[in-house]
Amino acid sequence: MKKSAILITCPKGLAPYLKDEVAGLGLPVIEESVSGVQTEGSLGDAMRLNLFLRTGHRVLLLLEDFRSEDAEGLYSGLVKINWEDYIPEDGYLCVTAHVENPSISDSRFANLRCKDAIVDRIRDKRGRRPDSGPLRDRTVVFLYWKGSRCSIYLDTSGEPLSKRGYRKIPGEAPMQETLAAALVMASGFEGSGNFLNPHFRNPHFINPMCGSGTLAIEAALLALKKAPGLLRSNFGFMHLKGFDRGLWEGLRTEAKKASEKTFKGRIIATDINPEAVSASKQNAKTAGIERLIEFAVCDYQDTPVPDAGEGENKGVIMLNPEYGMRMGRIKELEETYKGIGDFFKHKCMGYSGYIFTGNPELAKKVGLRAKRRIPFFNSNIECRLLEYELYLGSRSGK
Ligand SMILES: C[S@@+](CC[C@H](N)C(=O)[O-])C[C@H]1O[C@@H](n2cnc3c(N)ncnc32)[C@H](O)[C@@H]1O
Repeated sequence: MKKSAILITCPKGLAPYLKDEVAGLGLPVIEESVSGVQTEGSLGDAMRLNLFLRTGHRVLLLLEDFRSEDAEGLYSGLVKINWEDYIPEDGYLCVTAHVENPSISDSRFANLRCKDAIVDRIRDKRGRRPDSGPLRDRTVVFLYWKGSRCSIYLDTSGEPLSKRGYRKIPGEAPMQETLAAALVMASGFEGSGNFLNPHFRNPHFINPMCGSGTLAIEAALLALKKAPGLLRSNFGFMHLKGFDRGLWEGLRTEAKKASEKTFKGRIIATDINPEAVSASKQNAKTAGIERLIEFAVCDYQDTPVPDAGEGENKGVIMLNPEYGMRMGRIKELEETYKGIGDFFKHKCMGYSGYIFTGNPELAKKVGLRAKRRIPFFNSNIECRLLEYELYLGSRSGK
């Protein structure tokens, strides 16, 4: 299979995690930007990336690169591409675009010219044309046009990979699955806990204030080394001409073999809201990992924390409290953040504690010294994953 450039996009701030994942899959990291990683490979490699990546959003396979100053140049460059070999004439096409060109004031116009060129070419060669529209559940083409440089990609993901398919009930303020996966990775949680092995790392993952369960579910998937793409039945590449189903089934079998049935740590997810816990349970069930997560309805302070006390590396305890942009709630939340600090000090010794928040003023109320402040973005809000080392005798734990 022919190799070409592959651009993998990700939410702002996740590129360092994505880069590690790409390298872990044996592909070269050619370039890293704030919201993407560039590698190269075949369509088969793109399929693999779609299956295994936890922090990537869209896997874009470069089809053609050309220069164009205006919409006419765009059309004539696009109509030369042999679209009839990629897109079925009886299929459905969606074009997405990022345009920064002085001749184009509305990117929808570039989008339209791109779609016109593709369907005109297919009609000319095959006698009929695919339908087109905004749905991303079939063939998706992405146009990146900056200055005079046009790059045309096949979006092999279709729907973004953050849509794993397990979160049927989103709950209040859910975080994106890709962000949750990166937060779990940043904590170093591996789920490879083995109490007989002195080198075990972070066997337990405790998630009070679990909301819709995203952090706990991503932790369970990671602990089992289960490829998130196994949860999805539809990707953009499946709607390209000549889709190699045998190759795809082979990749799925490889992924299933690589995943483990169980692990030795515990994953505990709790929330004060019974509806959130029941949504989490349902989401975990859809993800096929509900047997690995112990759920409970309780105040975060009453969350069971196994083996807390003497020693280190008992596990990770991670909370994503509200960070209240609404006035009036702030006083209440100050108490909550202070309470989390007390909970960490009194009930979570031996753990690494984490708070994910977008409000630095509230974070100060925790009253513990953060060992690390790892930057992230939740949509456009700048956030931090604050890490507290809760070891007896350590500075932060005293
Ligand atoms: C920002 S949401 C968490 C969202 C979650 N990360 C997700 O992806 O769905 C905060 C959660 O904290 C819960 N919560 C608020 N106060 C609580 C308390 N005192 N004890 C336990 N949970 C609480 C809320 O019910 C809500 O589900």
